[in-house]
Amino acid sequence: MNLARTRWVYFSIALIILFGRPDQAAGQTATTRPARSWTNPLTEALIRDKATSLLRQMTLEEKVAQLSQLPGTDDDEFKENVQQSMDEVLRQFGAGSILWISDPKEINRLQHVAVEQSRLHIPVLFGLDVIHGYHTIFPAPIAMASSWDTEMVEAAQAVAAQESRAVGIQWTFAPMVDIARDARWGRMVEGAGEDPYLGAAMARAQVLGFQGQQLGAPDRVLACAKHFAGYGAADGGRDYDSSYIPEEQMWNTYLPPFKAAVDAGAGSLMSAYMDLNDVPASGNPWLLHDVLRDAWKFQGFVVSDAFAVRSLRIHGYARDPQDAAHKAFTAGLNMDMASGTYLKYLPIELQQKRISMQQIDDAVLPILETKFRMGLFEHPYVDESRREQTLNDPAHQEIARKTVQRSVVLLRNQGGLLPLDKAGKTIHSIAVIGPLGDAQADLLSMWGALTKPGPTISILQGIQAKVGSTVRVAFAHGPNLRRDIPSPFEGIELTAMMKEQPAQTAQETHQSIADAVTLARQSDVAILVLGEIDLMSGEYASRSSLKLSNGQEDLLEAVSAAGKPVVLVLVNGRPLDISWAAEHVPAILEAWYPGSQGGNGIADILFGDANPSGHLPVSWPRSTGQLPLYYNHNLTQNPETSPDFKSRYWDLLSSPLYPFGYGLSYTTFAFDNLKVSPTARTGGTIEVSADVTNTGGRAGDAVVQLYIHQRAGSASRPVRQLKGFERVALEPGAKRTVHFTLGKGELQFWSPTEKKWVVEPEQFDIWLGGDSTAALHAEFRLTE
Ligand code: NOJ
Repeated sequence: MNLARTRWVYFSIALIILFGRPDQAAGQTATTRPARSWTNPLTEALIRDKATSLLRQMTLEEKVAQLSQLPGTDDDEFKENVQQSMDEVLRQFGAGSILWISDPKEINRLQHVAVEQSRLHIPVLFGLDVIHGYHTIFPAPIAMASSWDTEMVEAAQAVAAQESRAVGIQWTFAPMVDIARDARWGRMVEGAGEDPYLGAAMARAQVLGFQGQQLGAPDRVLACAKHFAGYGAADGGRDYDSSYIPEEQMWNTYLPPFKAAVDAGAGSLMSAYMDLNDVPASGNPWLLHDVLRDAWKFQGFVVSDAFAVRSLRIHGYARDPQDAAHKAFTAGLNMDMASGTYLKYLPIELQQKRISMQQIDDAVLPILETKFRMGLFEHPYVDESRREQTLNDPAHQEIARKTVQRSVVLLRNQGGLLPLDKAGKTIHSIAVIGPLGDAQADLLSMWGALTKPGPTISILQGIQAKVGSTVRVAFAHGPNLRRDIPSPFEGIELTAMMKEQPAQTAQETHQSIADAVTLARQSDVAILVLGEIDLMSGEYASRSSLKLSNGQEDLLEAVSAAGKPVVLVLVNGRPLDISWAAEHVPAILEAWYPGSQGGNGIADILFGDANPSGHLPVSWPRSTGQLPLYYNHNLTQNPETSPDFKSRYWDLLSSPLYPFGYGLSYTTFAFDNLKVSPTARTGGTIEVSADVTNTGGRAGDAVVQLYIHQRAGSASRPVRQLKGFERVALEPGAKRTVHFTLGKGELQFWSPTEKKWVVEPEQFDIWLGGDSTAALHAEFRLTE
């Protein structure tokens, strides 16, 4: 066992000892797990008492201040609403929260004003988007979901929480749990992909990682599941556009990850920007009240997305800013992020008797309770002396590297080109080529660049470190990457790390490709690193085409024509159109945005020090025209599985290029001996077991996936649905039996004809294997 592995195991064990072993998130569902209470009932009663008695002493203005998050940066419209400085607001009224400040000195200074100089000494919650790391940046969420490793994801987010607390951040706007089925949507990168079951498991793991087993655990932060709800279904994949989602899809597909986050104890949720079925999510009573409070009994608080209260006017939903405050507040939105609309207009609303003091109290109470639960009254300040040591803990980098190794997805490996020889026996020279080959900030993705990331290892550096002086490594950049339409995030101070690459003339682009081809010809193997710079994925980063942009396709084809073996490494936030590569490039590795240790982790995979084990959390389209694309669609008239109707298109197969759940390894696995209890009552459980064997020559991790299909019922059911998974580490030749239990959570669905959750007495298919096309099949029946 090497040092890195020893520490990793040690860290995981320490987590388990400290916080208890998380139940197998994979075997649980969003809809059945009982809601978690934050602390024990006695402490909860005490917290309620303290919060209520504090509330009794508060003036209207102090209450409304708790319902407000102040922007940590200059915002003109906020200033228009609130003609006071941040310090003055804090001193006079306090504040619920402050956004986007992460300098511990400044946090302590502002906290001092709130705690020492305001009348009631209520501490402020400092919030920031720590999505996949603060200083140590982990792979982007879509990459972490590709690991199908909930324990590892939990451990990564625990590190993110620890580093955040070390600088004074107590609240992260994560996990992002939006289901995304359309890769044009830029924010697919921030979530766990297309599937509600995997999405729910990742949501739960992340909440536990951020918060620990209870709110207030040391070195943990308050989680915020976002964006509630339906943001991923934006029309045409255009960020912020309206979503139209039927109720059954909301319950069955888009809401389960939020329910899982709530059940795991997420203390807060963030409302989404867009209209959901013509009602903006940030003023949507069905979402914020009927689902969240009535159906799910959520006890935490909801914050709007930034300026979303103010923008209810833009939607044509609110007449004016006061109406916007009214609609958001009465829908059930507790806290206004950054717009100052609540601060200015809720007092007027009360004066005009459009809302009551009781309603205000009901909205403030969960915010105060959260602050008590988190122990902020006892410990409002951050210990500035811990910052350096915590952020520079080498164990964090080791976890990050492991996370990369488990997240990358091997898409193709013709003739076993990978792993490459690092000993200089068969390969003496390597050409690393491409605009992301030596990139650092771009490996962090958008949110990674927003926090205070530490050093990042580029892929070129990772390869150089791996082969040392035994193999000659040279680099050619190729064409520069730029968006056609710039991002509004470019150029603002907080996001200064995110930069376009300089503009080039056609001649310069051409020359850069020619130089790369020359280098490839002089080398034994070419590793092309292509994809998207950080500004090309994330918020405000939707695209109309998934093609490799800015001449990268030309570069790929020209280098491939040089006649040397080519490995394509993709750095990106969404599937791209790689149909040419999928036929002509022997090895393709999806690295996503791999974070601080990206270069090292990817070199580990390229040279066989780690065996790839990531599996796609999205169906990989053949072309942009297939979108939206998802595996768990319904079986309808003339299915594509029948010989006469192979495709829904006449110019392309409608199946994906790579199916959901797909991922190769340097070894092979066989699945057999599927045993399923043949029947159960609708209230009972079905037991499933199967064997998985490592049939190749290397140790590796299989991701065993279980899918079901209900053959008939009160509504059409998807062709397949993921209902269980497990990562299994196997030495060559080793065999393991895996077990799954299908209970109510797995077997029920929200029926559009019954208008409720049902488990139906019907015949079911079950498949088990390594991706969503798994062939090993059995059946079972549910009876009355
Ligand atoms: C807008 C984004 O939509 C949201 O995800 C983020 O948390 C807030 N800005 C705050 O940064």
